Amino acid sequence: MKNISVIGGGTMGNGIAHVFAQNGFSVTLIDLKQEVLDKALATIAKNLDRQVAKDVITEEQKIQTLANITPVTSLKEGVSQADLVIEAATENVEIKLQLFRDLDAFAPDACILASNTSSISITKIASVTQRPEQVIGMHFMNPVPVMKLVEIIEGFKTDKNITESIVELSKELGKVPALTQDYPGFIANRILMPMINEAIISLHEGVAGVTEIDTIMKLGMAHPMGPLQLADFIGLDVCLAILNVLYDGLGNTKYAPCPLLVNMVTSGDLGVKSGRGFYDYSHGTKELVLAPSFQ
Ligand code: CAA
Repeated sequence: MKNISVIGGGTMGNGIAHVFAQNGFSVTLIDLKQEVLDKALATIAKNLDRQVAKDVITEEQKIQTLANITPVTSLKEGVSQADLVIEAATENVEIKLQLFRDLDAFAPDACILASNTSSISITKIASVTQRPEQVIGMHFMNPVPVMKLVEIIEGFKTDKNITESIVELSKELGKVPALTQDYPGFIANRILMPMINEAIISLHEGVAGVTEIDTIMKLGMAHPMGPLQLADFIGLDVCLAILNVLYDGLGNTKYAPCPLLVNMVTSGDLGVKSGRGFYDYSHGTKELVLAPSFQ
């Protein structure tokens, strides 16, 4: 595989494009909006600068990485030469299903279609294409250039040879692949989201405050971030959507989202991306400041 098309210039899409381009692949980065593509390339350049500053890569490698990325706004044009497409668009079922119908029509017959979905069924996505055996989940973790894992999800009809080639490809990127079957939340979010939800329930019930919950899990369990900070980092709307997928798909009330999470999302407190979640990010520094509701 040489030509990789990545759909979506957001956090995950630009991270995926970054990693493939850094490893010598020719990457076409596709987004409907030119301003999103401009922002994505600026983010990739900034993250490459961090790697240059840390001597992880040289300035020449940075220049080559950026040269390996071609931004385009047309889906049809962007996937016409692709060996592999990785979809990292909005986490919305209808949008993804329409995208995969279009990809099936526009991408070469041999092209593998992957989704970076964090919880939507790969089998469902595959079912709207004429090539369900060539559809697979390739779930990267944020921040993509830093996190080692790629969770690989086999849909009900995914061909074993396709799985094997995606496992090998992930290793070529310097990542560690781990294979899961296609059931709600796969493994990463089936285990992560109940932990985050339980942290929010504990806060809601007054068992402990935001700082205490995060300190206990950060220092006591050696997690890089506490669960509430991590929820802000992932996006509270994303956490809520994934919990709903678990709740609906597994039918067990243990996955029911905490009402506090629902209220925060409804009121627009989405975490880092909206400037406020459990913490306040409006000051623009790395310092953790509690959001007014939790002070
Ligand atoms: N690109 C390149 N490098 C980056 C980067 C990026 N986007 N973000 C951070 N880095 C690098 C930094 O340069 C730094 O490098 P060195 O170790 O060489 O110094 C390193 O990563 C650590 O970064 P910082 O010093 O800025 O900050 P930190 O030490 O607080 O680490 C973190 C930041 C890596 C995000 C860390 O807090 C962490 O690992 N947090 C947990 C992340 C996590 O759990 N991600 C999974 C979320 S779930 C998900 O993605 C899937 C889903 O479906 C919801």
